[in-house]
Amino acid sequence: MTSTLQHKQAIAKAERSLQHMLETIVQDEHRPVFHAVPKVNWMNDPNGLIYYNQAYHLFYQHNPFSAEWGNIHWAHMKSENLIDWEHLPIALAPSEAYDRDGCFSGSAIEHNGKLYLFYTSNIFTSPQGLPDDLLQQQCLAVSEDGGNTFIKYAGNPLISSPPAEAGDNNHFRDPKVWKHDELWYMVVGTKKDGKGRVLLYQSANLLDWTYKSVLVESDGSMGHMYECPDLFTLDGYDILLLSPEGMLDYPVSGYYVGRLNYETGIYEHGEFHLLDHGYHFYAPQTFQDPSGRRILIGWMPMKGAQLNKTWSGSMTFPRELALGSDQRLLITPVKEISKLRVDAEPKVEIDSESCFNGKPMLNNEERYIYSSSAMELLVTFDLEELTAKQIGINFFASAKEQAVLGYEVEANSLFIDFGGMSASSYARKMFVLGDQRQKKLTLQLLLDHSTVEVFVNDGEFVFSALMFPDLESKDISLFAKDGFVHVEQLKLYQLELNK
Ligand code: FRU
Repeated sequence: MTSTLQHKQAIAKAERSLQHMLETIVQDEHRPVFHAVPKVNWMNDPNGLIYYNQAYHLFYQHNPFSAEWGNIHWAHMKSENLIDWEHLPIALAPSEAYDRDGCFSGSAIEHNGKLYLFYTSNIFTSPQGLPDDLLQQQCLAVSEDGGNTFIKYAGNPLISSPPAEAGDNNHFRDPKVWKHDELWYMVVGTKKDGKGRVLLYQSANLLDWTYKSVLVESDGSMGHMYECPDLFTLDGYDILLLSPEGMLDYPVSGYYVGRLNYETGIYEHGEFHLLDHGYHFYAPQTFQDPSGRRILIGWMPMKGAQLNKTWSGSMTFPRELALGSDQRLLITPVKEISKLRVDAEPKVEIDSESCFNGKPMLNNEERYIYSSSAMELLVTFDLEELTAKQIGINFFASAKEQAVLGYEVEANSLFIDFGGMSASSYARKMFVLGDQRQKKLTLQLLLDHSTVEVFVNDGEFVFSALMFPDLESKDISLFAKDGFVHVEQLKLYQLELNK
């Protein structure tokens, strides 16, 4: 059998499984409506993000046979507006000896009108399937029909192992490819002596790759393996994203800002910063769209099977990246969010003139705003003139439970508290916003039934998490404790996907 036929058959088997499972699906009110989620079964990392053939393409790590990780394929979605995602047939299925245990994460580029997917082929090298018994190699698949079907390159693997002194070939994965000055470059995650590394490769033709350098290496304080690296230029700086596996007791991803010397392969950079402070954010990838925006999508991990759900995981809402004056990334939801508004006018609105129900401030009180679990709330508090000790937003609230996004004035700290949610095992999390209190605090809260995304002060700080509230728990209120605060602006939009 030719390998193309084998691949087609493997995809057809996966599609039959999905079809079968879809027939038994019931409507689930926790399912996000304006986030990219699988129709059914497992989702992890976003892969191959690209604007190609007039559409945004989002591939992702997918198990078509169950709501748990395993049997990893590349599923495929596309969108014309970053909010409404159409599910397309599976793009990559394990079908060859070299990728029999999974088509792991990777990236996409366009070359001569064709869509190239770079991925990691995975083999479990022992029947026990121990975490280190792996063989991971970098592979290629190309679409010549506009991104509908992909043919694996006959010369796979492109890179069978890193040089022994550079990295371990059992943990060698997640190629991200880009072009610079007529040459192609690839970053790949690996580890050496138990410490994560990102390696740099170079190619003139996308097929023959030469190892160039170790871009970054952990000093031992950042887990044991660097996953999903991504390098791109923003405002003249080279930003390197990576996901250090095992760094904290929940998944985290972060970035360096620096400059890459393409001649020497040396990357000089500043400190590592987290991209998102939430419990559910990992393996993000970026791409540039035709308007020049650098857009990031991350994975919000979820164990669907344990939660009795038919799907597992969601993508974040797409985020636009900008570089702030302090060389920190500013991360905000893409402007397309406004297309989701049920009405152009906010459901609830106040400004400093109209004030709060005729009141200029919140004074030691909790004030009901609206009830919704699919909405965008924008609030600006005035921090110059206040006596309250704590201010914030209660959401996913009912008589039974509530989640809190708050600000401790004295400590200049933001906190998220899921301790009052019945479904939660997450503790209160505090984040110091800086040494000095700013004049204002702006909170943007996006809820999509079970996704929670918080953007603070125009993207200086981001928090993402999944939370499964009681279906009655939809109330949103603002509060000020032990004093007053002026609410300078408040806008609440009900969000919906209009198909
Ligand atoms: C990150 C990751 C990648 C790997 C993929 C496998 O979540 O572990 O490193 O390629 O998932 O699904």
